[in-house]
Amino acid sequence: MEKEFLDGKVLVKIGNITLEKVDAIVNAANWTLLGGGGVDGAIHNAGGEEIMKACEEIRKTVYPKGLPTGKVVITTGGKLPAKFVIHTVGPIRGIDKENEAAQLADCYKNSLKLAAEHELETVAFPAISTGAYGYPKDEAAKIVSEAIKDFLSENDRIKQVRLIFFLTNEANMFIRHQEF
Ligand code: APR
Repeated sequence: MEKEFLDGKVLVKIGNITLEKVDAIVNAANWTLLGGGGVDGAIHNAGGEEIMKACEEIRKTVYPKGLPTGKVVITTGGKLPAKFVIHTVGPIRGIDKENEAAQLADCYKNSLKLAAEHELETVAFPAISTGAYGYPKDEAAKIVSEAIKDFLSENDRIKQVRLIFFLTNEANMFIRHQEF
């Protein structure tokens, strides 16, 4: 199943993000940047130790205290078909109610901004925060679609944004609640 929005600039797909042949895939990491379960685990498993080494280096230099929610860093894609991985940390639902929606939007906007700064053209996202971090999928769909639409309305460097859903019902939920 695939569905396009914004004249084909956004593509919603079901699949495994580690197989996406794009300039960068985005990782739903945690503040340690040192791996985890879910899509974080899948990316490190498929991408290999080069990615972990790059993350460890970032922890030793740029972010010794870990990556704050909503911020982004970029590493090699290692053995992945994608050239780069952009790591970001989504909000954990309920921890910072006032700011969680803006933090989730920041994950997407900052990832796209970083990709554009690196002259990348195609970026694939998982459904950040909607797994272990418990963000409701319907609320996330509205926040994410508005954030991407805002970014693409001001930036023409990114040619395609893919939203990759592991499960059919997650993709359908997104499509039902998106507000592109
Ligand atoms: N490809 C695409 N999507 C995937 C994949 C995959 N290989 N694996 C999981 N997903 C989907 C999940 O179905 C979910 O919809 O990614 C979405 C995000 O789920 P999580 O990976 O749990 O991410 P998140 O909710 O942001 O929680 C992050 O979980 O894995 C740990 O280290 C990570 O502590 C961090 C937390």
